[in-house]
Amino acid sequence: MHNLSIGVIGLGYVGLPMAALFADRGYKVRGADINSEIVEKINTGRVEINESGVAELVRKVVSLGRFSATTNVAEVVRGSDVIIIIVQTPVDREGIPDLRALENACRTVAQNLSKRKLVIIESTIPPGATERIITPILESGSLKAGSDFYLAYSPERAIPTKTLEEIQTNSRIIGGVNKESAEAAKELYSNITRGELITSDIRTVEVVKLIENTYRDVNIALANEIALLCEKLGVDALKAIEIANRHPRVHLHFPGAGVGGHCIPKDPHFLIHRAEELGIELKVIKVAREVNESMPQHILELVKKALQNVNKTIENSKISILGIAYKGNTDDVRGTPSKKIIEELLQANCEVFSHDPFVSQDFGGKFSNDLSEVLRDSDCVVIVTDHDAYKRMDLKEFAKSLKKPSVIVDGRRILNPEEVEKEGISYFGVGR
Ligand SMILES: NC(=O)c1ccc[n+]([C@@H]2O[C@H](COP(=O)([O-])OP(=O)(O)OC[C@H]3O[C@@H](n4cnc5c(N)ncnc54)[C@H](O)[C@@H]3O)[C@@H](O)[C@H]2O)c1
Repeated sequence: MHNLSIGVIGLGYVGLPMAALFADRGYKVRGADINSEIVEKINTGRVEINESGVAELVRKVVSLGRFSATTNVAEVVRGSDVIIIIVQTPVDREGIPDLRALENACRTVAQNLSKRKLVIIESTIPPGATERIITPILESGSLKAGSDFYLAYSPERAIPTKTLEEIQTNSRIIGGVNKESAEAAKELYSNITRGELITSDIRTVEVVKLIENTYRDVNIALANEIALLCEKLGVDALKAIEIANRHPRVHLHFPGAGVGGHCIPKDPHFLIHRAEELGIELKVIKVAREVNESMPQHILELVKKALQNVNKTIENSKISILGIAYKGNTDDVRGTPSKKIIEELLQANCEVFSHDPFVSQDFGGKFSNDLSEVLRDSDCVVIVTDHDAYKRMDLKEFAKSLKKPSVIVDGRRILNPEEVEKEGISYFGVGR
């Protein structure tokens, strides 16, 4: 059992696995979240998060008495030696960072902080935010960061659906307001990860986190642009990218129906916005965002083209959307391209019926968790999410449900075109 007590503020997709992991390693952990439903579910063992191993681990550490949750953030701050803040940091519709949740959490910490505690920010933040926003709030209670309390920034880099695994294996970046803060945080994280612990100054760490996700966004945009061209050229972009990636210095991502989630579509805006404040336009990053944002519209074009190919029109067709979540095997719908695709389809006057194994949200169309009901008499099936359940579909059964002639628009390229066409269904995929 470790002597230190840890308080985790924000028990969402990242905070909850992090808290449970520290508890599993023998720390006494208290979690705080302003959402009372989340707190109640944790304390009563009813966690529903679709993250591998998390619900089980939470149940285990709660039953062992090592982890409990509360809505009383102040109490958690007062009772913990280490305070880790992992609240959401979204952008608004215009791409402007909305740090209200983080600022509120920091204010509560400041009002309840005492000397020699370690405060770690794990939320993703804009460049310079520790210095310009977080430190002034934390110091508003008269204690000084660095001398009275330790302050570190260590953004989470785990991929959704494998959060628990990657927290324990990924390398971790840690910045401190001073050397002692970085070392204290490093020592703490060494208990939960086998990955390399890289320390640097906070400003650098802030930028590292953001350029990682921006690299991925720009890379996906390039793949999407290649896909749009390949569709016209009659070349399969997937095949071309797979072969190109055998070159030792080429690491292209893959095209798709759009980029969602609480990270990749959002983090580039932190760079774009800060750059604008500093009088610089980040042209490549901005255009990449636009390309990725345009992919749902491209899916609509593919639907129209596919239906035309079998002499049907989009009006009055039944379109089945497979996948509401933004990513395969998650229940997370934040920034999901499905929302835009469904809205566009509804405007085109067709019947939209959607399915997801993990989510129950309709975005305006009809929805069911029963796949056969969603597929029945469908004219066009659109795959938006690469859930394993869709990869494993029995195509023979699948084909029987549809209204012939029927088409598939594969927005994630998870089905084999030849096998689909063998069942008498026309196949259209992004980049093909
Ligand atoms: N989701 C991911 O996989 C992922 C990966 C890497 C980094 N991140 C970053 O981690 C941060 C958290 O993301 P998330 O997906 O876990 O968000 P989330 O929305 O799932 O969880 C945040 C939680 O914080 C709670 N909260 C908000 N304000 C609070 C306050 N003042 N006090 C206590 N609780 C409060 C919310 O109720 C919510 O439950 C973000 O900055 C995100 O960019 C996320």
